[in-house]
Amino acid sequence: MQLEEIKKLFEEEKEKIQSLEDLEKLRQTFLGKKGLISQLFKELKNIDPALRKEFGQKINRLREEVENFIRQKREELQQQLLEEKLRSERVDITLPARIVPPLGSKHPISATIEEIVEIFKQMGFSVETGPEIEKEEYNFDKLNIPKEHPARDMQDTFYVNKPGYLLRTHTSPVQVRTMLKKQPPIQIIAPGRVYRRDDDPTHSPMFFQVEGLVVNENVNFANMMFVLREFLRRFFEAEVPVRFRPSYFPFTEPSAEVDIGCVICQGKGCRVCKGTGWLEVLGAGMVHPNVLQACGIDPDKYQGFAFGLGVDRFAMLKYGIDNIKLFYENDVRFLKQFSSL
Ligand code: PHE
Repeated sequence: MQLEEIKKLFEEEKEKIQSLEDLEKLRQTFLGKKGLISQLFKELKNIDPALRKEFGQKINRLREEVENFIRQKREELQQQLLEEKLRSERVDITLPARIVPPLGSKHPISATIEEIVEIFKQMGFSVETGPEIEKEEYNFDKLNIPKEHPARDMQDTFYVNKPGYLLRTHTSPVQVRTMLKKQPPIQIIAPGRVYRRDDDPTHSPMFFQVEGLVVNENVNFANMMFVLREFLRRFFEAEVPVRFRPSYFPFTEPSAEVDIGCVICQGKGCRVCKGTGWLEVLGAGMVHPNVLQACGIDPDKYQGFAFGLGVDRFAMLKYGIDNIKLFYENDVRFLKQFSSL
């Protein structure tokens, strides 16, 4: 191709450049090893020596022209790209954040406690609390469990360095605190953490109980049965079968353990109820006269009933959880399943 033709072609082609890729193609066409301009240089040797110098200069000028164009165009295109990028990545810091920070959800134990408390509140109970590091006297002595009494072995206790104190093994010391503080009528529940040296799939060394105490004139066992049946019906939102079994607690007489028909197998017998069709969910009984006496309440004038339930057990049954440890590992994958609570 003749120099003039190449020049003309270049003038046409340079108008079509839109991108860096186009520009690179143009460079190869004209300046590449086998490009049009390189071809011209190769022809130099065939040219009349008298004209060679002039021709050589012409090609050089053309090459410079093409090179300059490419340099300028490249800068221009790169600048354009940069501006586009800046425009598209521009952050408007005045806009409100689009991402809502992930919210936690209620722990199933908290949700269960709230639900239990709500039911008892509707039945006229108020809420009391007590310390987790408790006086041995309140956890045992005043509950008719004197020192050296074998009943202390019923609950494997964590003792603390301070003599006379322990980690409460049940919420029953809140009964004591309430009675020492006020005379009947008493109608309270006491939710909270308790501690025992126990550790297996159904026992955790720390777990939750809700205690109940009613003291008044003319309080009887039938009142207790009604309250507990009503509570269970409301909690499980169904007519669950309930049975009262005679049992023993030092602080109640008579005492009972309360079972419900297994909610997992509907009483047919399964792993959870160990084939019996029944699940123990509550300890209860009439407050022992010794306990009333020790707490400054006249047992000839007043009677009371008390009960204690394990919150973890209720939560496991309600939400179909088969290992108590899941509540205390704080694995988000577990907890997330309760985000609707
Ligand atoms: N405190 C008993 C326990 O933890 C439960 C209970 C409370 C039993 C009140 C009777 C009355 O096992």
